[in-house]
Amino acid sequence: MSIDDAKRLAGIAACDEVQSGMKVGLGTGSTVHHTIVELARRYHDEGLDIVGVPTSLATHALATELGLPLVELDDVEGLDLVIDGADEVDASFQLIKGGGAALLREKLVAQASAAMVVVADDRKMVDTLGAFPLPIEITRFGHGTTLRAIMDLLGCKAAVRMDGDAPLVTDNGNFIVDAHTGPRLTDPVATEAALLSLAGVVQVGLFIGMCDVVHLAGPSGAERLVCWSGRLT
Ligand code: A5P
Repeated sequence: MSIDDAKRLAGIAACDEVQSGMKVGLGTGSTVHHTIVELARRYHDEGLDIVGVPTSLATHALATELGLPLVELDDVEGLDLVIDGADEVDASFQLIKGGGAALLREKLVAQASAAMVVVADDRKMVDTLGAFPLPIEITRFGHGTTLRAIMDLLGCKAAVRMDGDAPLVTDNGNFIVDAHTGPRLTDPVATEAALLSLAGVVQVGLFIGMCDVVHLAGPSGAERLVCWSGRLT
């Protein structure tokens, strides 16, 4: 099974979490891409009556192209569910996200949702978060100062993410720093709080206490992992 096959399997399996009448957060990335395509198919072919809130301009464009009805986050009082990808997932359902630079909108939508479902291939499961460089959204103003402060705080190398020769600019007009901590984020709550104390840090790609279910796929098929303290059964 190819990695894309695993992503498709996980992405499509997660569609079973969605029922007619729901307001659904639509995540960003190559795994949830399959979810969005399948939700659009069910919307058109099976009468699945949903509205979506996209977590990025890229997802907005994809859902629009597929004919899924969308609303703005501010136009709804909460969402029933968000389905999104992840860069790392640990056994406590803690996540690193932001590999696609959409972490701020993803976290806003996740916090507005009654539940969060993650779709991932099984390479994303880790014992300890941090092998994947931690994405941190920062302001453009003073970005060099913030970058140095992040390196001092975390005691590791970090770099502003580039898009060719220039820094990558997020959908919100900010930059992303990728911090190469290594797999040693044993206290992600404390790490997130410390990073957020830096004035130039807009948001951190640590999603703690948010994920309720993971649809994980690999060579042996897809499985549905439920967080014992989560909001879904
Ligand atoms: C976007 O900013 C990210 O949080 C993605 O959801 C994450 O990188 C997973 O993407 P893939 O499904 O493409 O691996």
